Amino acid sequence: MRNYHIGIVLFCTILNLSAVAQQLSVNGLRTEYRSNPMGIDAAEPRLSWKIISSRRNTMQTAYQIRVGTDSAGLSAGKAVVWDSGNQKSDASVFVRYGGALLKSGTRYFWQVRIKDNHGNSAAWSTVNSWHTGLLRPAEWTAQWISTSSADTVAGPSPIFRKVFASEGKVKSAVLYITAHGLYEAQLNGKRIGNDHLAPGWTSYHKRLLYQSYEVTSLLKEGQNAIGFTLGDGWYRGYLAFDRRRDFYGKRLSALVQLVIEYTNGTKKTVNSDGSWKYNTGPILRSDLYNGEIYDARLEKGDWATANYNDTNWKNATTIQADKEVLESSISPLATKHEQFSVLKVITTPKGETVLDFGQNLVGWVSFKLSAKAGSYIQLEHGEVLDKAGNFYDANLRHAKQHVKYIFKGGGLESYEPHFTYQGFRYVKITGDLAKIDPSSFKAIAVYSNMDPTGTFNTSNPLLNQLQHNIQWGQKGNFMDVPTDCPQRDERLGWTGDAQVFFRTAAFNMDVAGFFTKWMKDVASDQLSNGSIPFVIPNVLGSNDAGSTGWGDVATIIPWNMYIAYGDKEILATQYPSMKGWVDFMTSKSKDDLWNTGFHFGDWLFYRPNDDNDGRSAITDKYLIAQAFYAHSTQLLVNTARVLGKKSEEEKYTELLDRIKKAFLKEYITPNGRMVSGSQTAYVLALNFDMLPENLRPQAVDFLVRNIESYGNHLTTGFLGTPYLCHVLSRFGRTDVAYRLLLQETYPSWLYPVKMGATTIWERWDGIKQDGSFQTTDMNSFNHYAYGAIGDWMYRVMAGLDTDESAPGYKKITVAPQPGGNISHAAAELETLYGLAVSDWKIENGFFKLKVVIPANASGQIRLPGAANASVTEGGIALNAIKGFGKIVTSGKDMEFSVGSGTYQFEYPIKL
Ligand code: BGC
Repeated sequence: MRNYHIGIVLFCTILNLSAVAQQLSVNGLRTEYRSNPMGIDAAEPRLSWKIISSRRNTMQTAYQIRVGTDSAGLSAGKAVVWDSGNQKSDASVFVRYGGALLKSGTRYFWQVRIKDNHGNSAAWSTVNSWHTGLLRPAEWTAQWISTSSADTVAGPSPIFRKVFASEGKVKSAVLYITAHGLYEAQLNGKRIGNDHLAPGWTSYHKRLLYQSYEVTSLLKEGQNAIGFTLGDGWYRGYLAFDRRRDFYGKRLSALVQLVIEYTNGTKKTVNSDGSWKYNTGPILRSDLYNGEIYDARLEKGDWATANYNDTNWKNATTIQADKEVLESSISPLATKHEQFSVLKVITTPKGETVLDFGQNLVGWVSFKLSAKAGSYIQLEHGEVLDKAGNFYDANLRHAKQHVKYIFKGGGLESYEPHFTYQGFRYVKITGDLAKIDPSSFKAIAVYSNMDPTGTFNTSNPLLNQLQHNIQWGQKGNFMDVPTDCPQRDERLGWTGDAQVFFRTAAFNMDVAGFFTKWMKDVASDQLSNGSIPFVIPNVLGSNDAGSTGWGDVATIIPWNMYIAYGDKEILATQYPSMKGWVDFMTSKSKDDLWNTGFHFGDWLFYRPNDDNDGRSAITDKYLIAQAFYAHSTQLLVNTARVLGKKSEEEKYTELLDRIKKAFLKEYITPNGRMVSGSQTAYVLALNFDMLPENLRPQAVDFLVRNIESYGNHLTTGFLGTPYLCHVLSRFGRTDVAYRLLLQETYPSWLYPVKMGATTIWERWDGIKQDGSFQTTDMNSFNHYAYGAIGDWMYRVMAGLDTDESAPGYKKITVAPQPGGNISHAAAELETLYGLAVSDWKIENGFFKLKVVIPANASGQIRLPGAANASVTEGGIALNAIKGFGKIVTSGKDMEFSVGSGTYQFEYPIKL
């Protein structure tokens, strides 16, 4: 009987424990946005975690973090280098490490436990880690090594190798590596890491990133060999227009330091130095724009293994190069992602053999083929077929996206390119192969390794395709820097494009690391007078700087990073750059009016070819400049407020006031008309609060009438487009926003979709109605800028947003605005707190809204058209449910706050 009793007690205790465990737990640990990162160089890394709770209204009330240098020890509470102690706080994002000074090249393990407002305690989380990079330049004992001479022409890729001994039990082995040029490294014949196009692209003479790789499992007892191949890449290859090359230097080189730590506490370092050997291999040419030529007959076999005979190889030359500019890589490098099979093999009217992969993508083709030695295959890459159905690549300008492979013969040969990438959907095949088997080819998408965070879905298939196209525009152009296009001889970090697309990008993927890195590049290439170059890294020169809407990247992205992630540090880091840009505009202004200098204006706005009745939607460039001058100043004021810079907040608030006054005086008639009557002019004036309240309703009317005068078409270019629908919604005309969004004829977002686009086009009419193309000079079919509508689709249509007063989705707003006969729209976003959802449908006269608010966050819900409706949540009348904030009506809507949890609202709706 007693045993039975004990049994029951035990059973209940176990049940209870598991119930508690289920109620509250912690996962998704991140250090500086990343899971188990290598090479962290922040002095006080910021730690974040997510909270899982089965109960609604869960908030963290306290946390405890412990950090140690031994994983197993840490779980047992030993070898702790920092214990935060029990901290009463709801902070679960960006909590700073507060222990002793971090050592270089060390792995730190950490875990966290928390308590919540329901009295639950979570168990210690699983252990996560971060590894510190080489924190001081002096710790680089390796030497830069190169071939014997500098080369100015494109030539074969050099390969380097070194044999070394490793004796004893290895605790850890970490490789620190970077290059002038691109590198691919191997240890004992195995590729190191999954990254491509390393070390990425920065202004190399100012900032060169190195990578840190854990290679312990590739090492073996005894003789080992390490090797790497170099390619021209951004450093020395063709870059920008006009067939320029060698932008950063003529000489490829690398810096390699392998640090092995043995379990007995001793260390061994293998450095790049003059004892390394080099040769050339099968890569005869490799260039980002111009593809690769690979002669498999020149392969060197197992050249990166210890037993390889390298007697004919030359000794590497050591060269002097700066180590002070080295910084650890903090953003994800490019990696391989989706694979596509051949959808169709096409024989074109010209008789060409063309593979169609069904998706315009960026990356390369891999194949497995056999052919006799010396025969070749050439792949030519293009985005579209022409009107007649022939292969087309004239829009690539000077870029030759050609990959040529020469067979070694004797069996199946597998290949994919190394230091190049192509933008393509179609691949024309030439060469010696008699027959093409489509199953031998795969297209591989390659882009910066960002986690997908957002999905957006509706009942309208065309909108779903638009969302697909936006996401593929992002994938194709997030190649270490945000590029304008991925195919022609450009592929540059155009600042205007990046700023207009940022908010959309931050919904689709985790772009925090990517933009933290790139914004540093913006600051480091900023000119001494505060002006911002058109492209970052700046490869165009110091005269190509200072355009309105482009330079504002300096303020717009940091501020929106703060909104999307709640990251104050990015504001602090970028503040001097933000201020520099605003001060630059002030220095160019007279009487607070900025009306000088070159500006791109509302780039690629609607301009019909046969414009004989003034339908071209031209907006005065200086009007635009003044509006963005105000906007950037406003963002600087906001930033100064967040950072507690009181006097600067005041100073720039006064400036802002004067800028707006100057705008009114110069660009608004006494009756409230704008000197440019374009959509973009009204959109910018309204969006940036340039007009006094009393002039706004009339401006909205002008805007709507203008849209209607074009038969419900937009006419905006790069600068007006991102704000167009937002302005309409903000001023109560979501109906007009839907008309624009659902417009299927040119110019509109859905016109390219109807024309079969699988990405966003650079121009509203890249392919015209009659199938002919826009000018070959500038007609990319993969340009993300117009994809900026994605932000409105997430934030207004689906209604998922963060409250600016508690950014980074600490406080989430869910305020869908249905319309346009759409019966369903859903947005999901993996925030730093966890998954947030707004998912609505209209069914049998009922509006049904599913909301998910992650733990440790709260929500503000606005139910459209629910003011007088009887609303239920999970089948229960709303006012019978505890835990909601005060329910208020606001116009036709109902509003209230909620805590974390999953909710299902429902009410009859009349739309
Ligand atoms: C790029 C753009 C860029 C523009 C500047 C073009 O060549 O592709 O996207 O913003 O130049 O106006």
